[in-house]
Amino acid sequence: MKSITVGLGERSYPIYFGTGILAEIGNLCRSQGLGTTAAVVTNPTVGALYLARVTQALAGAGFSVVTVEIPDGEEFKNIETLKGIYDRLIDSGLDRGSFIVALGGGVVGDIAGYAAASYLRGIPFVQVPTTLLAQVDSSVGGKTGINHEKGKNLIGAFYQPRLVLVDVATLDTLQEREYISGLAEVAKYGIVLSKELFQFLVDHAQRLLARDKDCLIEIIERSCAIKASIVEKDEREAGLRAVLNYGHTIGHAVETLTGYTQFKHGEAVAIGMVLAAKCSQYMAYADGDDTEKITGLLRSLRLPVEPPRFSAAAYREALLRDKKVRDSGINFVFNRGIGGYQIARVEDIPLLLKICGIGD
Ligand code: NAD
Ligand code: GLY
Repeated sequence: MKSITVGLGERSYPIYFGTGILAEIGNLCRSQGLGTTAAVVTNPTVGALYLARVTQALAGAGFSVVTVEIPDGEEFKNIETLKGIYDRLIDSGLDRGSFIVALGGGVVGDIAGYAAASYLRGIPFVQVPTTLLAQVDSSVGGKTGINHEKGKNLIGAFYQPRLVLVDVATLDTLQEREYISGLAEVAKYGIVLSKELFQFLVDHAQRLLARDKDCLIEIIERSCAIKASIVEKDEREAGLRAVLNYGHTIGHAVETLTGYTQFKHGEAVAIGMVLAAKCSQYMAYADGDDTEKITGLLRSLRLPVEPPRFSAAAYREALLRDKKVRDSGINFVFNRGIGGYQIARVEDIPLLLKICGIGD
């Protein structure tokens, strides 16, 4: 089993990577000195596949286990589901000697993490991410939370897990579009933070599409190491951490305009990254060759690269609705060549859209 550490002083934690390592969760929780009762939060889809293995491993290591099932879907990442988790924790008598295990994708990780951050003013939690997106992004870095009817992730807390266990074997059961959507986040790290990772993706695209385990461990470990290094420098997103939003500004607009139904998150981000690359080229942070390479990689990973057709006014409105927008301007993340980034404020949204070639 490989591991890296997210170095945050006394809140540092390990991330373990391997194939078929779910059964280690009990021993790893024990080695972290976690309390007596584990509350495993999962949904029916993931639970049917992996809950028994996780509960057996925890019980085998001497923990009492309570299971908390929440409905599957982004639409359930809300206050009602959170209340259901609290109810179950309270009814099961969970005290400060307990901890939460989030078993699932980003939805389970975000809501279970927020439950842990807030229950009894905070109990420890462990991330066992089972989607590629969760393994390379959402399980690391401590962003937890729920959606509000007025917007995504409007309620939450920075609250770091005590350990993350990444078992790449769980990706075998993931639906194809979910898997490919996760590859977009890996490409993001390559484009703005690691030329080497970018080249690795170019060289191993076919093996990655075949979910080759060695390649997967390589890219997930590299992605987590990159994310850890950013989080270590800027845990609460005062500045640098915003680089992780590369492609997301326009990607979110694409998701909003298409009602969150046409594109998976990573697919919308892929479109956003191609448009961000065009803007970077316009600003002379990168050249046409970089834009072609970025577009070529995303295409070879079977990600969409063409924005859906909406008017410029609709795109503008969707962009300005993003919660990271301040005073009608956008803090936009550009790529500097490949493997570098530039964060700059963009006030002229119509020009941005024109450069992207979107809208009328
Ligand atoms: P998700 O959690 O909805 O999972 C996608 C689907 O795959 C679900 O139906 C789930 O049940 C299923 N699934 C999960 N693991 C599976 C497996 N191994 N086999 C078969 N099916 C499986 O979606 P996601 O893409 O993992 O996460 C999206 C969420 O993550 C969003 O709510 C987003 O806001 C959040 N997010 C958070 C951060 C962060 O830093 N906290 C970062 C990025 C995204
Ligand atoms: N997913 C972006 C972040 O964690 O900051």
